[in-house]
Amino acid sequence: MDWEGSANAWIEAQGVHGDFSRRRVLDAPMLARVHAFSPQRLLDLGCGEGRFCRLLAKDVETLVGLDPSSALLAKASELGEARFVRGRAEDLPFESNTFDMVVSYLSLLDIEGIEAALDEVVRVLRPGGHFLIANLTGFATAADIKGGGWRILPDGSREIVVRRYLEPHTVVAEWKGIAVTNWHRPLSFYITQLLERGMALKFFDEPAVQHPTDPKEVAYNNAPYQLIMEWRAR
Ligand SMILES: C[S@@+](CC[C@H](N)C(=O)[O-])C[C@H]1O[C@@H](n2cnc3c(N)ncnc32)[C@H](O)[C@@H]1O
Repeated sequence: MDWEGSANAWIEAQGVHGDFSRRRVLDAPMLARVHAFSPQRLLDLGCGEGRFCRLLAKDVETLVGLDPSSALLAKASELGEARFVRGRAEDLPFESNTFDMVVSYLSLLDIEGIEAALDEVVRVLRPGGHFLIANLTGFATAADIKGGGWRILPDGSREIVVRRYLEPHTVVAEWKGIAVTNWHRPLSFYITQLLERGMALKFFDEPAVQHPTDPKEVAYNNAPYQLIMEWRAR
């Protein structure tokens, strides 16, 4: 039950263009935030099989993807044009003040040592650099989304059954042959941790499917699964 063991299933599930929430919800606003800041040196933290790096490759001069899974990195290197580095967010193999921007695209919930990881993000960002985050919402992770947390209503819309929201805890997420541990933390945890590190919030969004075209997409917009935050280092 880890990312290395789930790598093949993950690569298969993402395909070339990424899964539904990436393609239809997150990619456009995440790319817009990167382009608005125009970083020359960008770290993709928990880059997986490198799909977001591939989307950024033509626009970022120095692009680094980091991930602990050698199987995911092998796929990323095979397809991508970034430099891919094996490592963990808790102990980044980079000098201080190395990056203009660090991106965590749905990886904070996968990182066990979150406080060490946030220390490291702040350390490797230059002063004024940005930390761009896409994460699952806390009520989505507290709903144990790959288990019994959603109640599907007759019209296809969903109710979220939230449990233990205020209490950080782990959830085993299993879908499409992938089985990994996710760390649920309430939103106040992330906000407090980043404020305590001198970061300033510059942008916040709970993105939805833009122009939903079918009942699944309309139902998806019943509540946001994801949030985007962008923080500026002092
Ligand atoms: C849900 S995947 C997201 C991958 C990619 N960012 C994307 O959006 O497709 C989470 C990633 O976090 C990575 N990860 C897990 N623990 C990590 C850690 N301690 N430090 C950095 N990355 C980690 C996993 O190997 C996995 O590739």
